[in-house]
Amino acid sequence: MQQGKIDEAETAVQKFESFWPRKIVILFGKPGAGKGTQSPKMVELLDIPQLSTGDMLREAVAKKTGPGLASKAAMEAGALVTDEIVVGIITERIKQDDCATGFILDGFPRTVAQAAALDKLLATTGDAVNSVLQLSVPDEALEERICGRCIHKASGRSYHVTTIPPASMKLGADGQPIKESMTDDETGEPLMQRADDTAAALKNRLSSYHNETVPVLEHYKDAGIVQTIDGQGSIDSVWEKLLAAMKTA
Ligand code: AP5
Repeated sequence: MQQGKIDEAETAVQKFESFWPRKIVILFGKPGAGKGTQSPKMVELLDIPQLSTGDMLREAVAKKTGPGLASKAAMEAGALVTDEIVVGIITERIKQDDCATGFILDGFPRTVAQAAALDKLLATTGDAVNSVLQLSVPDEALEERICGRCIHKASGRSYHVTTIPPASMKLGADGQPIKESMTDDETGEPLMQRADDTAAALKNRLSSYHNETVPVLEHYKDAGIVQTIDGQGSIDSVWEKLLAAMKTA
């Protein structure tokens, strides 16, 4: 390409980065609604990172950092971690270069106080949330999704004993998966269950969702940016619905 053309393209990119609003999307939904399942496709499409406060907190717990140690018990019980800790984590994360043109928030904000803190933080750079995409799934459908999930800790790859079983899975005489046979398709490493993926913790997670997280939708409703997507059906069909919603966001 000629130098003139290259300069022209670079100017266009700079203009785009300076004046185009950052794409700031909240992927919203109950535990097990499909946020973690659908967000990698959004990352690929929009070329912006997914910021999951749940993943960041689990990493902090594994590394035994101060915020991690302070969050461990609440997370295992399915309760919310303090607003102060999660807002602190997000504040630092969105300053990183890969968030320059936008990001997808998965699992944040989960309280009205977190939403207000996010709005305030974004306002300092002239930004605002552009879109809230709510994946809607009835409570009754979630226990099977959550209790059947297993994950590969290092990569975050997620499986499900009936819908997305690992290739290695073998069933015992009782028809249940044999734990030792559950390994990651790519690395062969053992899969694990999240400590909060139990029926008892799910009850608490749903209760926090209904009492503290649903009001976040009201918070953004007046801005006309909330869209509800039916999160039931096959994973591919949910993606098609999500894609259609993103086109009109
Ligand atoms: P977090 O990690 O955010 O958990 P969550 O919101 O409970 O969400 P999940 O990861 O369980 O659900 P998902 O929607 O991603 O489901 P997935 O796509 O994997 O938070 C964990 C904890 O951290 C919280 O409880 C809290 O303690 C703390 N925390 C995090 N953020 C916080 C915040 N902002 N403030 C305070 N505390 C915070 O799908 C689940 C399963 O269903 C998978 O097996 C999948 O294969 C399957 N599945 C997905 N889609 C379909 C489909 N269409 N059909 C059939 N199966 C499907």
